[in-house]
Amino acid sequence: MSRVNELILSRAHSHVDMVPELARYLIESGGKRLRPMLTVAAAQLFKKGTGSAINFAAAVEFMHNATLLHDDVVDESDMRRGKPAARMVWGNKASILVGDFLLGQAFMMMVETGDIGALGVLSAASAVMAEGEVFQLSKTGDLTTTPADYAEVIRAKTAVLFQAACEVGAMSGGADAAGRQALARYGLELGNAFQLVDDVLDYGGQAGTLGKNTGDDLREGKMTLPVILALSEGTEDERATIGKALGDAEATDAQVNAVVAIMERYKTLERTLEQAQGHARAAQQALEILPQSEMRALLGEVVEHSVARAF
Ligand code: IPE
Ligand code: IPE
Ligand code: MG
Ligand code: MG
Repeated sequence: MSRVNELILSRAHSHVDMVPELARYLIESGGKRLRPMLTVAAAQLFKKGTGSAINFAAAVEFMHNATLLHDDVVDESDMRRGKPAARMVWGNKASILVGDFLLGQAFMMMVETGDIGALGVLSAASAVMAEGEVFQLSKTGDLTTTPADYAEVIRAKTAVLFQAACEVGAMSGGADAAGRQALARYGLELGNAFQLVDDVLDYGGQAGTLGKNTGDDLREGKMTLPVILALSEGTEDERATIGKALGDAEATDAQVNAVVAIMERYKTLERTLEQAQGHARAAQQALEILPQSEMRALLGEVVEHSVARAF
C-alpha cells in the first residue's frame, strides 16, 4: 500500500498548479483507501503476487476520488473526509475539471499495464458508475422509487467499483476463471453492504466519525432504502412529514429528527442494516471456494469491519 500511495501522489502531479493543489488536498485528507487495498489483497491471494496490481490499485483510487469530486458537486455536499469539500475551497468548476484529470490519469495507469482485459473491466465500471449516478439523479425526490430501483442505484454507483477493484486484483494475481469470479462476487456483495451501511449512517451516524454531514440525504431528496421503506409503510401524516423534508435543503434538524422517529417506528434503519448483513454474508460465502490463507482471512475481516462501522 505504501507503493500504491507513492504512485497516487506522483500521478497527481501536473504543471498546472491548481491540479495538484486540489487533488492533493483530497488525497491527503486520507480516506480509507479501501478499494485499492482490495485490489492488492485480491492479487496476493493468488500465486503470481502483486504484479500490475499496484497500477490497478492506484487507478481504482483515482477513479474513486474523481467520482467523489464530481459527486460532491452533484450532491452540493459541503464536507468530505472530515474537511470542507474541495468544491468549497476551489469551487465547482475546478472540482469537476480536476475530477476529469484524475480519471484520465487512472486510464493512463491502466494502459501502462498492457492488460486489455483488466482495462475492459475498469472501463465498464467507469461507465456503469456514471449511469448509476444519473439514474439516482433521475429519481431525486421521486416518492414512487422502489426498493428495486434503489438496489440498482447502489449496485451501479458503488458496488460495481468494489467488484472491479477485486476482479482486476485477482486477474493481475493470475487467478483462474473461478478465482476471478469469486473475487468479483465478493466485491459486488461487499460494495452493496458498504453503501447500505453508508445510507444508514447518513441518518444515524455522527458527522465526526463519518467525515460528512448527516441528514444530507434527506435534504438532497436522495431516495435511500430507509426512506423508501418508511414512505411505503407510513400513515398519510407520516408520509406528509417525510415528503415535506425530502429535498428541502433548508429542512431543520427538528424535521430530520421527526423523519428519523418515523424510521425508528417502522424499524427501517434496522431493516436496512439487516439487508447489509445479508450482502455481507454473501461476500463471505464467495470466498469459501478459495483455500484458507492470511489474505482470505483479511478479506473476511474487511467485510465484518465495513458492516460494524454502523454499530
Ligand atoms: C464514499 O466511499 C462513497 C461511498 C461509496 C459511500 P468511502 O467511504 O470509501 O470514502 P473514502 O475514500 O474512505 O473517503
Ligand atoms: C457515493 O455516493 C459516491 C459514489 C459512489 C459515486 P453518495 O453520494 O451516496 O456518497 P457520499 O455520501 O457523498 O459519500
Ligand atoms: Mg454524495
Ligand atoms: Mg451522490
